[in-house]
Amino acid sequence: MIRRVLPPGVEVAERTGPPLPAPLHPSEEAGVADAVPARRAEYAAVRECARTALRRLGLGDAAVPAGPDRAPMWPAGIVGSMTHVDGYRAAAVGRVDAWVGIGIDAEVHAPLPPGVATLVLSQDERSALARTRPGLCLDRVLFSAKESVYKVWYPVTRSWLGFEDVDVRLGDGSFVARLGRPGLGTDVLHGRWAVGDGLVVTAIALARDVSATP
Ligand SMILES: CC(C)(COP(=O)(O)OP(=O)(O)OC[C@H]1O[C@@H](n2cnc3c(N)ncnc32)[C@H](O)[C@@H]1OP(=O)(O)O)[C@@H](O)C(=O)NCCC(=O)NCCS
Repeated sequence: MIRRVLPPGVEVAERTGPPLPAPLHPSEEAGVADAVPARRAEYAAVRECARTALRRLGLGDAAVPAGPDRAPMWPAGIVGSMTHVDGYRAAAVGRVDAWVGIGIDAEVHAPLPPGVATLVLSQDERSALARTRPGLCLDRVLFSAKESVYKVWYPVTRSWLGFEDVDVRLGDGSFVARLGRPGLGTDVLHGRWAVGDGLVVTAIALARDVSATP
């Protein structure tokens, strides 16, 4: 799934089903020191995806500790992103000489719970969704797109970005996110989305060379 929403040059790995036991590097242990077993298992399993993706980029058995803010600390020269949801996890990585940042997100393909849409989507965004196709939970797609935006935004700026700071408009398998705050060197991010196997996935790969942006 995640391959469908990311460009060549970004390496990915994904796994479905329950998290299989996966070892942690010593530097990764602190991220789940007090975690319950289920959380520890997801944290380890998504890092197994990250290591697989990093190997595809030519790196060895790299550690990806969690920073104090929970954001992953990628090996030098690498940017990337991880996501997990019940029964699915994925990682995407690229080289910093090609990519400013990468953000990926997976969600269960279901409508947002009552009341959540009004918290995370603007009136304009919700009005735009009213003209959309049946069978697709586009409110969830929009929410996921915003999570992907945040995962590109935060590692670069180390600052908060609220749901109200981003306006997302969906196209057919694509989206455009307009940022209301400076910090990334661009006000517009282009991403892709896909729905399948009961999931929504969204992704943004912000190219260093803007002419490479779709
Ligand atoms: C951080 C956040 C984006 C994670 O998204 P999520 O849907 O809850 O969970 P996901 O499974 O998709 O992603 C979790 C992974 O994101 C990564 N992550 C956590 N914090 C992060 C951050 N600040 N920046 C980038 N990646 C982060 C981690 O790898 C984490 O997995 P791990 O803890 O097992 O290592 C979300 O919890 C959050 O805080 N959102 C509020 C801010 C926001 O989305 N604003 C919208 C702006 S438009």
